[in-house]
Amino acid sequence: MPLMRLDGVSKRFGGLEALREVSFALHVGQIMALIGPNGAGKTTLFNCVAGADRPSAGQVFFRGEDVTGRPAHAMCRAGLARTFQHSRLFDDLTVLENVIVGRHCRTYAGLAAAFLRLPRHGREERESREQAMHALTRVGLADRAQDEAGSLPLGERHLLEIARGLATEPVLLLLDEPAAGLNDEETANLGHCVRRIRDDGVTILLVEHDMTFVMDISDQVVVLDYGRKIADGPPLMIQADPEVIRAYLGEDLE
Ligand SMILES: Nc1ncnc2c1ncn2[C@@H]1O[C@H](COP(=O)(O)OP(=O)(O)OP(=O)(O)O)[C@@H](O)[C@H]1O
Ligand SMILES: [Mg+2]
Repeated sequence: MPLMRLDGVSKRFGGLEALREVSFALHVGQIMALIGPNGAGKTTLFNCVAGADRPSAGQVFFRGEDVTGRPAHAMCRAGLARTFQHSRLFDDLTVLENVIVGRHCRTYAGLAAAFLRLPRHGREERESREQAMHALTRVGLADRAQDEAGSLPLGERHLLEIARGLATEPVLLLLDEPAAGLNDEETANLGHCVRRIRDDGVTILLVEHDMTFVMDISDQVVVLDYGRKIADGPPLMIQADPEVIRAYLGEDLE
């Protein structure tokens, strides 16, 4: 059974068909890349599976259950975490605090309990800190825990966003353009980190424009063009696919 399966997922924004009957299956332990030109529908697809948006048609299955249209916090509790294409870090908070903030879907105490200082809050706060530190260790940022997030270079900011996702204890992690703007060294480090996370048992679905990174890291590649899936297969097959080359890769890989 696949970890996640999309069956004919479509998304319309008024007259625009951002996704057109997209179907694919993502299996446990895979690193899958979702590629395609700007505006192809990649982020829209993330939004539709992560609960930030509802598909207009089709179904999303996660861990064997139909989760179509479930809200983001429910998807988070079910074991799905994501990073965003545009940074959502709080620059004035510390690195550790940024990760703790991301854990809210796993804590039950809420603001009222925090205000009333109920015992549950104290225990949850300790657990949250421990989980957050563990997540920072996994991306190699433990020694930055007390620094202001705003002081981190871009490569470490992206790792921090990943740590924030990991702190919710996901089985599936969605990364939207994690290598965007990174230099070669930062990109290589990111690649090691993503592989390590997968080896620890977290399945990965990532959107990325850096083709060297994509072809190097992924087991399977899904290609979108104008909201339609035009190819789906292992990297070597995708690189040789005439329709993919025409739509997207151009001279890049020739
Ligand atoms: N909330 C929205 N309302 C209206 N149109 C939208 C909305 N979100 C996305 N779109 C449109 O849907 C299409 C797909 O956008 P999307 O952001 O998913 O593309 P993308 O593949 O992530 O592109 P990029 O590589 O530039 O990030 C685009 O034409 C975009 O303008
Ligand atoms: Mg996008």
